Amino acid sequence: MDLLSSSEEMVAWADNVRRQGLRIGFVPTMGFLHSGHVSLMQRLRPRVDRLVVSIYVNPLQFGPNEDLDRYPRDPEGDSQKCRAAGVDAVFMPADLYPDGFSTAVTVDRLTDGLCGASRPGHLDGVTTVVARLLNVTRCHEACFGEKDFQQLMVVRRMVRDLAMPVQIVPGPLVRDVDGLALSSRNKFLSTEDRRKGLTLHRGLFAMQAATGAGETDVAKLLSLGRAYIDVDDLDYLELVDAESLGAIDRIDRPARALVAAKVGSTRLIDNVAIGPELSWT
Ligand code: PAF
Repeated sequence: MDLLSSSEEMVAWADNVRRQGLRIGFVPTMGFLHSGHVSLMQRLRPRVDRLVVSIYVNPLQFGPNEDLDRYPRDPEGDSQKCRAAGVDAVFMPADLYPDGFSTAVTVDRLTDGLCGASRPGHLDGVTTVVARLLNVTRCHEACFGEKDFQQLMVVRRMVRDLAMPVQIVPGPLVRDVDGLALSSRNKFLSTEDRRKGLTLHRGLFAMQAATGAGETDVAKLLSLGRAYIDVDDLDYLELVDAESLGAIDRIDRPARALVAAKVGSTRLIDNVAIGPELSWT
């Protein structure tokens, strides 16, 4: 496995792979890897000839009072996990942006609500870093987890709108044995925080089950879900059109229930599919 520590090294590696006519798959991460990340690597591995994982905690996507400084890091452990997952190159730059970097990539509308509303600038930071990462890795396919559902939809939109020559492959959300959505931030949870965090997926699953049993009224589904949730600060619980992320009244198309909340000082997000299945094509 190759370790690449600058954009120049990454580009040279990728150009060399491409010259051989081989296809590159890419999984972007901020490190402190868990089985959710590994599942994204496993999803791409059989689809491509060479697999690249980036590990970069992107300052652009953290607000001034967010957890950039305490974001967990484990470069040694991450490298081992990548090696075990059959990764060909780990791109771990100390700094990703060139001196004088002055560009921002913004996707409108899809970023208005949900995390876009409660974390101003966050999704612009994501699209900006992802645009640069897709360019320097020269990848043919890139895998993004459904755990960050809004991020996945926003990145898909950016790639379509800008005709970027890459296929975005969604990777299913992975849960711990108790049902908590895997996240690098789960490391910060106390036993009591975790108990509270688990009520998020219980609420979402109750909404999914009620839809399965025939309930289509979004207001009723939301109040059902809310009744399960016991957290310190509920940021949002919403049920939206899965494609546009816009408001809906009834479940008459692919929809998504999404939640974000703080337990202790840790922000957790989760989501489930509701209603007809979303077509990813
Ligand atoms: O999902 C993440 O870990 C990050 O938002 C990403 C896509 C690696 C961009 O920094």
